[in-house]
Amino acid sequence: MGEQIRLDKCLAMLGLGSRSEVKQLIRGGSVRIDGETVRDPNRKLEADRVRITVNGTPYTYKAVRTVMMNKPAGILTAARDKKQRTVLDLLPPMYAAMGCMPAGRLDKDTTGMLILTSDGALAHRLITPGKNVGKTYEALVDGPFTEEIRARFAAGIHVEDADGTFDARPAEATLLRMEGTESLVRVKVTEGRYHQVKRMFSAVNLTVLRLRRTRIGGLSLDPALQPGDFRELTEAEVALLEQQETGG
Ligand code: URA
Repeated sequence: MGEQIRLDKCLAMLGLGSRSEVKQLIRGGSVRIDGETVRDPNRKLEADRVRITVNGTPYTYKAVRTVMMNKPAGILTAARDKKQRTVLDLLPPMYAAMGCMPAGRLDKDTTGMLILTSDGALAHRLITPGKNVGKTYEALVDGPFTEEIRARFAAGIHVEDADGTFDARPAEATLLRMEGTESLVRVKVTEGRYHQVKRMFSAVNLTVLRLRRTRIGGLSLDPALQPGDFRELTEAEVALLEQQETGG
């Protein structure tokens, strides 16, 4: 049996307004469940099984929502910020109402694949280093990425800087191409420390000029998503996120 929830709560979670606003909608006769007008906000329903329309527009309720976003540069990875736009501001209000939060953090200037989910356990699994979920980035750096540096990444880079000291786990890194004097490098890490990738390159005297995340676990960023676009993941895709695989 599906999850039973009250109609007013269900509509609030769909982002249709506050509890009192959606009660007005319901009492005003705007809401139909399986074709029947329902005026009782307390009506319990299996929200993920019924057809819901509000003023004729259909809505789909799901208990859990997981979204892939192609994060643009210049946007904070946070739930809410008083001054700056955040990734949640790029989603319709329903997602915040359902408790979607970013699973991990990309720097303001980092672009690419970001997962937002209302499933707290999934978010935790994706960011816990012990789970070994790989995160793959493409980094444009300001010099040659030599075989010696590749081997240091593979052995585990020692980072010691103003933000602290850590021994990074071994990371697979591949030179994709040179762009003039700059190198485009694919690097896969299994941790998410503060500025992890930038600090690893900095430890070998390279500055990251551009950073984009392309893959988490076994799932790649959907190439159809333009910066700022998002889409919900299927269950099969959510399962891929946690897959530990070796390729890039
Ligand atoms: N590593 C970084 O340095 N920045 C990011 O945004 C992600 C990983």
